[in-house]
Amino acid sequence: MKATLIIRHHAGTLTLETEAGAPVAPLLREAGLLHLPCGVGKCGKCLIYADTEPCAEERALLGERIASGLRLACHTRATDGLEIRIPRPEALRVLTSFAQSGYAFRPIVERRAFAVEAPSLDDQRSDLQRLMDACAVDRHALDLDALAALPAFLRAQAEERSGETPASDAAHSPRDYAELCVSEEGRTEASAPECGPESGLESARGTKDASSSEVKENQDVKRISSSEEERKNLAAPESESGRQQEASAPECGHESGHESGHESGSECGPESGRTAKDGASCDDGRIRAFGLVHGHELVGYTASARPHALIVDIGTTTVAALLVDLRSREVVAVRGEHNAQSSYGADVISRIRHETEWRESGAHGSNPLRAAIVGQIAALLRGLLDEAGIADVDALSITGNTTMMHLFCGLPAEGIGKAPFIPASLAPLRLPAAALGLPSQGTAFLMPGISSYIGADIVASLLAAEAHRDQPPFLLVDLGTNAETVLGVGGKLYACSAAAGPCFEGATLSCGMAGQEGAIDAVFPDSQRGLSFTTIGDAPARGLCGSGVLDAVALLLDAGALDETGRLEAEGPLGAHIRDDALVLADGVRLTQRDIREVQLAKAAVRAGIDVLLEEAGLAASDVACLYLAGGFGSAIRPGSAARIGLIPPELAGRVRVLGNAAGCGALRYVTEEGADKSSLSIIRRTRYVELSAHPGFTTAYVDRMCFPETGEDGVDSRL
Ligand code: FES
Repeated sequence: MKATLIIRHHAGTLTLETEAGAPVAPLLREAGLLHLPCGVGKCGKCLIYADTEPCAEERALLGERIASGLRLACHTRATDGLEIRIPRPEALRVLTSFAQSGYAFRPIVERRAFAVEAPSLDDQRSDLQRLMDACAVDRHALDLDALAALPAFLRAQAEERSGETPASDAAHSPRDYAELCVSEEGRTEASAPECGPESGLESARGTKDASSSEVKENQDVKRISSSEEERKNLAAPESESGRQQEASAPECGHESGHESGHESGSECGPESGRTAKDGASCDDGRIRAFGLVHGHELVGYTASARPHALIVDIGTTTVAALLVDLRSREVVAVRGEHNAQSSYGADVISRIRHETEWRESGAHGSNPLRAAIVGQIAALLRGLLDEAGIADVDALSITGNTTMMHLFCGLPAEGIGKAPFIPASLAPLRLPAAALGLPSQGTAFLMPGISSYIGADIVASLLAAEAHRDQPPFLLVDLGTNAETVLGVGGKLYACSAAAGPCFEGATLSCGMAGQEGAIDAVFPDSQRGLSFTTIGDAPARGLCGSGVLDAVALLLDAGALDETGRLEAEGPLGAHIRDDALVLADGVRLTQRDIREVQLAKAAVRAGIDVLLEEAGLAASDVACLYLAGGFGSAIRPGSAARIGLIPPELAGRVRVLGNAAGCGALRYVTEEGADKSSLSIIRRTRYVELSAHPGFTTAYVDRMCFPETGEDGVDSRL
């Protein structure tokens, strides 16, 4: 017998038909409405509202929340006419802070400004040739859509120019023109500001004023023209000598007051009052458009004078997107969401299995996992562009773990999931964003990876940590569903990936949650009450995020309420908080004995990975000068708690350096630092991947690290 379900979700209402008595969870997952972290009715995360009789498992997992109509999809069966309401997904906080040393900021996609004249009988070059000549390149990578749109684009610009129509785009202000005039070699170059906490790239809406950006070059604007002499000049390829001239060109910064190299010698910048018309080098003053050049190829064109880049980090659990203004170097808008593929499973293996099944089914059309992530990134891009009030980006830098990059590109991921774990490709890619299905005329740069389990996101983090430069021995740990760990020593890099599971991201803990409002993110001893805590947003406690979990376990150990085997006992100053085999932190927020076992498994995997790498390199933990912690969780934890529970070596608790959103930072560097592509490849060449499942020492280390350190062992100070 058939059953019709009415599904109400934040974006509308849907009816689904299935067999009466069938479980509703797979249906909701297939519809992309719900993700199922465990999929077997154990984690209590597949929350829905439905008017059904709760089963014993639901009562146990949901407690008093049953009264509000909350149920679990895993335990709900279809009945005809059943109405299901899906709670609105919460926005995720995206970590936007970058902590790194400075680098010369130079967008990989260069803008070459040109003015446009209507074509004439004297000039029989094609539109494409005229544009390439104007940009001083002899190759292009425009796709058919971009080529098809070019004639109308050029004529629209020419008409606007000849009609003296004021530029409709606010971005066409004189200041924008002045900032983006191209040099004789057709290059724009910003000076080399620091990019880091002090430089204004630290926060989402960084403190650095856009007016402090400096422009070195500000000379001739190339012009599409019929003049034979100009044509010859313009067609000349860029020369090495040209680069040198450019490097020695005088500065023309807003604060510098230096004269620019253009003929009029007028100052360049908002304070100088210079407009495009004022500058002799800006032709007759009206720059209408920009050619976008990568290397020696024309990759696009735009009329917008506001260069931006989109940075995307595709994680298994979350997707983070940052929109960066390439002039001010500020992150101007950010969005983060649960990965839309989550409904196909919480871990990469489940996703690979789904992708493989789809491929083997011979189904036509779009792979649903690919469609999910492409659609999500497209929506994130549209939302960010709307928020910033701009039309498009010049470049997109995309990073992520190897499985996510495969699924995003539509590459078969099957090889990643089974021995000997061979991915289809780890190479960097450059292609039009539109070819990936994204709504942009920009160019997408997909970062390269190291192995199936050390992906492009870790290459990005290593780039952010400047692993390609000489430095004392260091460890970099990115704690997520997999804990990717890299040990750098003497120019060599040793990398491994330990399956920590989604415990630190809250997915498998009874009251675990992501770092959202209401999550307990820090727990402290309190002489009066035994313990106190803080929550994100100072909101009422709703659950525990990873940093809160670590603090709580460390506190239990310090208080003697947890022995080294992980057995919870209602003793010591926290005794009053321990009830029914759980630490009760607040109403409905508990850390259970089972949760603690999950933490033990996860931390043992991470620590065993560190042990194996140290052994491979012949180092002791005390030889490591710096422990870089990457990612949102790594940035939130207290090193003392991490050392206290045995997640990191105690010697390193005082040597932690938090990198913040290292993957985002590295992905930004990838498209804004000259030579970052080569640095990434150098990092990859110098990395030896250690497969833990095949390492003889891993299992022993894993078992050894399952217990918690005894109180005071190794002088761990959990107050760090
Ligand atoms: S209880 Fe349904 S996904 Fe875990």
